[in-house]
Amino acid sequence: MIAQEDIRKFETFSTPFYYYDLSLLRKTLDVLKKAVDKYGYNVHYAVKANANPRILQVISSYGFGADCVSGNEVSKAIECGFPASKVVFAGVGKSDPEIINALNHDIFCFNCESIQELEVINEIAGKMGKTANVALRLNPGIDAHTNKCINTGLADSKFGIDFNKMEEVVKIALGLKNIKLKGLHFHIGSQILDPEPYRLLCLRSNEMQEKLAKMGVELPEINLGGGIGVDYYKPDENPIPDFDTFIESIHSNLVVKPGQHVHFEFGRAVVGQCGTMVSRVLYIKPASQTNFAIVDAGFTDLIRPALYGSYHKIENLTSQSSETLSYDVVGPICESTDVFDKGIKLPETKRGDLLAFRTAGAYGEIMASQYNLRKLPNVYYSDNQ
Ligand code: LLP
Repeated sequence: MIAQEDIRKFETFSTPFYYYDLSLLRKTLDVLKKAVDKYGYNVHYAVKANANPRILQVISSYGFGADCVSGNEVSKAIECGFPASKVVFAGVGKSDPEIINALNHDIFCFNCESIQELEVINEIAGKMGKTANVALRLNPGIDAHTNKCINTGLADSKFGIDFNKMEEVVKIALGLKNIKLKGLHFHIGSQILDPEPYRLLCLRSNEMQEKLAKMGVELPEINLGGGIGVDYYKPDENPIPDFDTFIESIHSNLVVKPGQHVHFEFGRAVVGQCGTMVSRVLYIKPASQTNFAIVDAGFTDLIRPALYGSYHKIENLTSQSSETLSYDVVGPICESTDVFDKGIKLPETKRGDLLAFRTAGAYGEIMASQYNLRKLPNVYYSDNQ
């Protein structure tokens, strides 16, 4: 529940804006840290979920590493306190300048996705007189049963190296003299609420380790990626993901040999619930089937509903009415997909009311755009700084 004192503050902020509850972020990080420290697992926060500098500073202060997918993310993470020695750099299409930037920072590891990428990194590292640490991203062929737009572990996805070609790729990587093969990397998708796909992932990792052992290869790093989901429907009942259940399931299914380290790349689960997008109602337009509540935020501010059909709980923070009506909540952008939700029940809503779009901390502010030459959303924090 958003507290009355926060709503009073919101009245003075200019809409649309993102509001970050940094105390919830810290509580989430406390729970995560306790869950992973129990087994000495490592977390690299997935910067793509939210690269707001204040958020990055809070997360880096916990000693976590960063998972980056662009040269700019690598630089920003390091600027915001993540040690380069805990930065991993992933992505199917790393450009040469991005590779050079990461090598200049001496990052912990590149997560590589193709033979050609390995060859290019080897060549660039050679020219720079460096050795690149590399983990190979394996496509485990697992269905994470999540939204099809963010399901990445299936065999037809562009991500990762085919499970059956892995031994061949390992041989090639071992032959490249400016590459140090350090580990295996996986990521099966995002917004995963069921621990079962992770159990299957552990079995795939164990299987691959056995194959590699037969080749005489043992790799010290196993990175299982991110993907733990959050409760978009009940943010107040479940503000912090149940990290323990996932971590326990991994601990009981993953074979970890002496000297091996386990890594994760959680994004959404860390920042999802601490962010709320707040927008003001501009107009109410009654229609035959519904009432349009036209708000001052559009998909330029929060694109998830328009892009993936994702759900964000919408609450009217200021209506005093006890009457409930049905609304289609829509933005001002000149596109018919600029719709946040349809036919939802809200207390009678009027021009000037404030609507909260909950669970917007992950893939919200960071995916904002300036289409229609709109301003980027404002940002406020619970500690008023
Ligand atoms: N590691 C890799 C290699 C990834 O591709 C991703 C997310 C993560 C870690 C972090 O996943 P998370 O723990 O946040 O689930 N924009 C979409 C989500 C895209 C996820 C992309 N990759 C959304 O709004 O739902």
